[in-house]
Amino acid sequence: VAKLIGPKPLAGQRVLITAGGTVERIDPVRYITNDSSGKMGFAIAEAARDRGAEVTLVCGRTEATPPHGVNVIRTDSALRMRDEVMSRLDGTDVVIKAAAVADYRPASRADQKIKKTSDLLTLELVRNPDILQEVGEWKEARGGGPFVVGFAAETTDVEKHALDKLARKKCDLIVANNVAEAGAGFGAETNIVSVYGRGGFAEHLPQMTKRAVAERLLDIVRDARKGSSE
Ligand code: CTP
Ligand code: CA
Repeated sequence: VAKLIGPKPLAGQRVLITAGGTVERIDPVRYITNDSSGKMGFAIAEAARDRGAEVTLVCGRTEATPPHGVNVIRTDSALRMRDEVMSRLDGTDVVIKAAAVADYRPASRADQKIKKTSDLLTLELVRNPDILQEVGEWKEARGGGPFVVGFAAETTDVEKHALDKLARKKCDLIVANNVAEAGAGFGAETNIVSVYGRGGFAEHLPQMTKRAVAERLLDIVRDARKGSSE
């Protein structure tokens, strides 16, 4: 009841969330994407909205419909998503990067539909910028900025890879999930995650709905931000 009548804990806070998979065009009718449904990012957006935050949701291709009451920015490619995220960092308090950003994109996009002329077709791919890492570098260059939460989608050695990403991308928290596990990751209604932070923070959550994961994640973010401002 206190939650309903009391002041909203995230009132006045700007939260930027990315969700869904990016779409990397090959030609006018074909593209490369991934299995991300966008549901985890949407659940976080809803939870932050209900806590009173001003939420901006930068989303790529998604299966679900984005929640009401949030500012939805539609993007397609990783390059576009990067621009939409970077141009909004100033004045943002928390960034949560749940999007599944394609690591590579076609080296060139054909203007016309590619014809089947040979038995073997090689598609050349080039590496996309790492948006999360750029956010970390932007913060470092400015000597401050939003609290940054990254995700790590893994199928093996989850903890090792997640801790590596936490350090390499200079995030404040990393939410790791084993996307090969039943009841976790892409498309599922539930998720099983571990959250890692600076200074050895680790919390392993049981299988929960994505909304419950979102609520717990926002609690962890709140506590970590309190800790870093003390
Ligand atoms: N990410 C990003 N830009 C990219 C790739 C990933 O911002 N070009 C972000 C994702 O949104 C996620 C985090 O980085 O928050 C981790 O993504 P993940 O795919 O797990 O890690 P990668 O660093 O891409 O490493 P790999 O795919 O090789 O495991
Ligand atoms: Ca990746």
